[in-house]
Amino acid sequence: MRLYLASFLAAALVWGAGCGDDGDGGDIDAPAADAQPDAPTDAGMDGPFVQPTMLSETGLYSNIGTKTIASGVVEFAPRWQLWSDAAVKRRWIYLPPGSKINSTDMDYWSFPVGTKVWKEFVRGGARIETRLLQKIGDADDVASWYMVAFQWDAGETDATAVPGGVVDDQGVNDIPDRSKCRQCHQPSRNKAIILGFQALQLDYDAPANGLDLDYLVQNDWLTVEPTASGQAAYFPLPAETGTPVIEPALGYMHGNCSGCHNGDSDVLNTVPLELRLSVTELGTWAATDTYRTAVNVAASLGSQGTHVVKGMDVAQSAIHNRMTAVGGAQMPPIAREQVDTTALAAIDAWINSLPAPN
Ligand code: HEC
Ligand code: HEC
Repeated sequence: MRLYLASFLAAALVWGAGCGDDGDGGDIDAPAADAQPDAPTDAGMDGPFVQPTMLSETGLYSNIGTKTIASGVVEFAPRWQLWSDAAVKRRWIYLPPGSKINSTDMDYWSFPVGTKVWKEFVRGGARIETRLLQKIGDADDVASWYMVAFQWDAGETDATAVPGGVVDDQGVNDIPDRSKCRQCHQPSRNKAIILGFQALQLDYDAPANGLDLDYLVQNDWLTVEPTASGQAAYFPLPAETGTPVIEPALGYMHGNCSGCHNGDSDVLNTVPLELRLSVTELGTWAATDTYRTAVNVAASLGSQGTHVVKGMDVAQSAIHNRMTAVGGAQMPPIAREQVDTTALAAIDAWINSLPAPN
């Protein structure tokens, strides 16, 4: 108990200190729930939850010295990944034995208590941080998920929890504090809280028989299983003639923007933009929320272009301008300092393939 109180106080102090400029470009208000620290909750299958102070305590490795991943922990990669200033990332998931993911809502899965998901960041060949999302309570709310990043030591022997984040770690990397995690991993933004481990993001052929949607079906991870469509994918994307330009652009925005821009997000109160793909809206690209709310739709916040996306006119497309911006109007508003030029080229190719507005 004393341990918990100490780390609570430490975290509360850093939260207070973290309000100033932290050099991560534009900022948005943290959702109100951020004011509540995580309560330690009985984690059921794994015993009472204790906030880990070292990565080696979280169960990712059976031997952190040799970097041996523990049994039951499975690596995965979402098909459309979040741009993190060119960091190389790896991810792993652990489900408690015998438990399943509640997939009743195929777009927003609900994870069993005891689920742990990690994401490792490597820059210049060196491990710099590993992030943890751990389900410690029954609900799909903020108090039910413990979120923290661990900063690796120089020799990569272990990593220490940094609830207050680290600005310019090793000169280049901003490790987000816990309130920043919640600007993206937050049920008022995204019902599932988990952003990459979802049906559409896993509905592809993972390399080397790795974890993908088919693996989850074969290994009984889901309460409701999607039925095979007879095609390569469970949820086939609409076909495109010629060189595909739509899928790379809409997929990128699904991976990078939909955590905040979707039909259930509190960001809708500011801008009516929905960039999330749904398994139920894949009949045609034109039927997606992205087309409905972005293509040739007037921008609500005028200064970054006349339209959210203006067909054949990149310069008047707010999505292009906000992906080009660094600081100020940049999107995503946090967690990047560099422009993703490859993605920008894909977005521009898509914009230039669209008809101009009438
Ligand atoms: C700018 C938004 C953003 C911020 C801030 C952010 N994340 Fe994420 N995170 C994402 C997105 C999007 C994904 C899925 C795409 C990917 O992994 O490339 C993700 C994936 C993850 C994953 C893998 C599980 C999953 O959701 O797919 C973990 C673990 C994770 N983040 C932990 C954290 C922690 C801990 C913090 C704070 C220290 C944090 N993240 C901050 C957007 C964010
Ligand atoms: C962490 C949450 C978050 C993420 C992730 C995010 N946005 Fe936003 N976005 C916002 C908020 C909040 C606003 C309104 C305030 C503002 O303009 O900064 C906004 C506004 C916008 C607007 C203005 C729309 C209009 O009608 O004027 C565009 C365009 C936009 N975002 C595009 C994107 C794109 C493209 C991505 C991904 C590359 C993205 N956003 C990722 C939170 C986010």
